[in-house]
Amino acid sequence: MEEIKKLFDNNLKWASELKETDSEFFSKLSNQQSPEYLWIGCSDSRVPANQIVGLLPGEIFVHRNVANVVVHTDLNCLSVIQFAVEILNVKHIIVCGHYDCGGIKAALENKPHGLIDNWLRHIKDIHRIYKDKLDDVTDEHKRIDLLCELNVIEQVANVCHTTILQHAWKAGKNVTVHGWIYGIRDGIIKDLGISVSGLNDVQSVYKLK
Ligand code: CO
Repeated sequence: MEEIKKLFDNNLKWASELKETDSEFFSKLSNQQSPEYLWIGCSDSRVPANQIVGLLPGEIFVHRNVANVVVHTDLNCLSVIQFAVEILNVKHIIVCGHYDCGGIKAALENKPHGLIDNWLRHIKDIHRIYKDKLDDVTDEHKRIDLLCELNVIEQVANVCHTTILQHAWKAGKNVTVHGWIYGIRDGIIKDLGISVSGLNDVQSVYKLK
């Protein structure tokens, strides 16, 4: 059980280091959280939200799942978005995918992976929509990277299509949805330049009157 004990040792060290820099750090946080950002990212252990954007506890609200997918009927993800937008009043929602995503790679294969195949169907749906574009890329790595980016683009759209974002924008709330991608190989985040700040960018078929 040495590997588990290590985590508790690390925790004590981490907490005391934070208290050294600010003796009231935890007592201030215990009253409330007021993060400005919601992060929707992949569960991949190489993409820890707080660390890669240099934010402390209390500064970013986080939802992670395999391949950072926003599914229209996923009550877990929708609840996170609703709470973040309506209660925490976050200013920014960041959908951050990453290159070399195992979930994206698995979705491109035909071999079975168990229950998760059902989840990865959502990635296959995106592959089907962009099949011609993806087939044009002959290099396999580049094709996977492209699908990682296309997945972010589609998930940003899915966030914007939710009733939550549409209601928020109608009510005049200032909240922007961003699409980013993180490079496992260099640790650098790239902004895909697809930020959405209002209803004008929502496709008409999804728009609520
Ligand atoms: Co991933």
